[in-house]
Amino acid sequence: MKTLILFSTRDGQTREIAAFIASELKEQGIYTDLVNLNRTDVVDWSLYDRVVIGASIRYGHYHPALERFVKKHLQALASLPGAFFSVNLVARKAEKRTPQTNSYTRKFLLNSPWQPTLSAVFAGALRYPHYRWYDRIMIQLIMKMTGGETDTRKEVVYTDWQQVAGFAREIAQLTGNSSLK
Ligand SMILES: Cc1cc2nc3c(=O)[nH]c(=O)nc-3n(C[C@H](O)[C@H](O)[C@H](O)COP(=O)(O)O)c2cc1C
Repeated sequence: MKTLILFSTRDGQTREIAAFIASELKEQGIYTDLVNLNRTDVVDWSLYDRVVIGASIRYGHYHPALERFVKKHLQALASLPGAFFSVNLVARKAEKRTPQTNSYTRKFLLNSPWQPTLSAVFAGALRYPHYRWYDRIMIQLIMKMTGGETDTRKEVVYTDWQQVAGFAREIAQLTGNSSLK
């Protein structure tokens, strides 16, 4: 049996975090499938004994595919030990990096019919040169308002990889099913 790691990404950082978790689990002898949730409809759940879902925030929201996926696969998700992680830039501030203090994660857990056994919040990446001009200006504005990096030549990865490694260790220990709300 393997662990299914699903990721919902726009610019790749959530995929990188998911891949990092996969490599940490492999070191512990746990094999994974890494799957893009935004492009996946059909899952052979009989292959998996654990599930991890990671998703990023853009303009205050997760990709709509996340909610669709959870609704569609609810029974399977609830029958497995599961973990959820959220990726966003608000979480670059340590005090906004727990499921309780990060509003995107708190809201997801409050409203999601799938109640994962574990959850975490990771700071994402800021990659100005990769953004379209409108996004670049919007993000720069948000960064200005929240005391962040405003130099649009910069790329900054805020992800704390030690924190991600710790989460992977928790995933490796995961027992007990997720639940339905
Ligand atoms: C257009 C755009 C909008 C974003 N909106 C938010 C936001 O509302 N709140 C937030 O905390 N981070 C926001 N971010 C930061 C992303 O969540 C962060 O860059 C993350 O690493 C993206 O992950 P991904 O590459 O997996 O999509 C935004 C980023 C972009 C490019």
